[in-house]
Amino acid sequence: MAQIAEDRAFQEARLRAEELRSLINYHDYRYFVLDSPEISDAEYDELVRELRRIEGRYPQLITPDSPTQRVSGQPVEAFGIVEHRTPMLSLANAFSADDLRAWERRARNIVGDGRLSYVVEPKIDGLAVALVYEDGRLATGATRGDGIRGENITQNLRTIRSIPLTLQKKVPPRFEVRGEVYMTKSGFDRLNEERADRGEPLFANPRNAAAGSVRQLDPRITASRPLDVWLYQLGWVEGAPSPVNTHLEALDWMRGLGFRVNPHIERLKNLDAVIAHCESWERRREELDYDIDGMVVKIDSFALWQELGYVGREPRWAIAYKFPPTQGVTKLLKIGVNVGRTGSLNPYAVLEPVGIGGVTVKLATLHNEDDIRRKDIREGDWVIVQRAGEVIPQVVGPVASRRTGKERRWRMPKKCPSCGAPVAREEGEAMYYCPNTACPAQARRLLEHFVGRGGMDIEGIGERLAYTLYDSGLAKDPGDLYSLTKERLVALELRHPERLGGAIGDFLQ
Ligand code: IVH
Repeated sequence: MAQIAEDRAFQEARLRAEELRSLINYHDYRYFVLDSPEISDAEYDELVRELRRIEGRYPQLITPDSPTQRVSGQPVEAFGIVEHRTPMLSLANAFSADDLRAWERRARNIVGDGRLSYVVEPKIDGLAVALVYEDGRLATGATRGDGIRGENITQNLRTIRSIPLTLQKKVPPRFEVRGEVYMTKSGFDRLNEERADRGEPLFANPRNAAAGSVRQLDPRITASRPLDVWLYQLGWVEGAPSPVNTHLEALDWMRGLGFRVNPHIERLKNLDAVIAHCESWERRREELDYDIDGMVVKIDSFALWQELGYVGREPRWAIAYKFPPTQGVTKLLKIGVNVGRTGSLNPYAVLEPVGIGGVTVKLATLHNEDDIRRKDIREGDWVIVQRAGEVIPQVVGPVASRRTGKERRWRMPKKCPSCGAPVAREEGEAMYYCPNTACPAQARRLLEHFVGRGGMDIEGIGERLAYTLYDSGLAKDPGDLYSLTKERLVALELRHPERLGGAIGDFLQ
């Protein structure tokens, strides 16, 4: 009797475990892919707890694709090798609209002048992965490696919650999807903050952080990192005819199965629209919470992929339109201090000039002394400099491996570099201040602010003229601007023609 009751309990547990798994998978999909949960976190946690209880009681019911295995995977001995069934290719690069046009011409030389449709997608700056599903379950996840053979990182990829472990719909017996694992910018900032607090080396950028996180031997470390994935390609399908004939159909099919497919993918009908779209994202790339280093342009039709084929490792049916880089490495020559209009002392880096994305960067901000100390940035260090859009360039952190031992740690000066007053810092505040309300640097900055966009936006007075007005004594504070006379201004220009270069003439117009 006891045996029968025990068997029945086991069968019930097995059915309930299956039910819980599919419920949890469904809610993972709602939460991580659709961003639209149907149940509260507490209800979700209760489902996971119940499943854990059952699996604790009947360990034989644990399946590798159980949601409980996402986080608690055991460290793998070392990564095994995965042979990719079809090579993971790379892309040729285009750096301009002309490069895109030349690419289209080469394709048209092969496929003729008929209509072409293009699919344009963000080029995610992460790490390429291939996911093989067998009978609807995630069987293998691998890195790109050299394109032919990659590393088996299935255990680690299982910890990424938006990667489905099982698919709920009918699918071909075996198929592969490819995509990019990445780290969000906000997640990266948080991770680096924590690392700085613990005195650990910083990651240079989200891509390095993602690559480092995915190639961990202990999946628990991967699980603790803010990773996510965008799937952008159907690799191959086996055991059933391909469910799709075009790339866009493939993406829609994948989306329908619960894969996370980027919402900013668009099909465009001609190359001018493609170029406009690429250029528009080049300006808007900062809007996304993940790094993109360009746009990928693909011809939509699979039949044309066949016709176009490859040159070496690069398909003729796709190309990467690359954006200018946003990071560079250079030497930090010296740390200077700027006095703000409220007296805040702002450290900045004087850099050996470095070209980043077509702009020469010589100065970068360093936030505050605590940040410099936490990131262990020293004068003489090689540093990573980040330049994003209009934002002032920043020093991300040192390249500690390039140290020679001659680098110098930095401290905030004890005295204001402008007026010499002893500097002060409020309890719990990150910034140091010059407490002297008569500090000339503060007054100059105040005048500059007053005439500028953030203040009265006085047409014709820029930073240069504001400084000269201050230095010459004509305007020591904003009130003085209202008693300026034409004669005095003209006399000023005559005294400083090299400094003003016609600025006053322009202003008086
Ligand atoms: S398609 C043959 N689409 O870029 C086509 N790649 O430079 C293979 N990447 O190794 C790739 N976003 O890691 C494609 N939307 C996207 C992509 C993308 C990022 C990466 C991928 C690839 C590299 C090629």
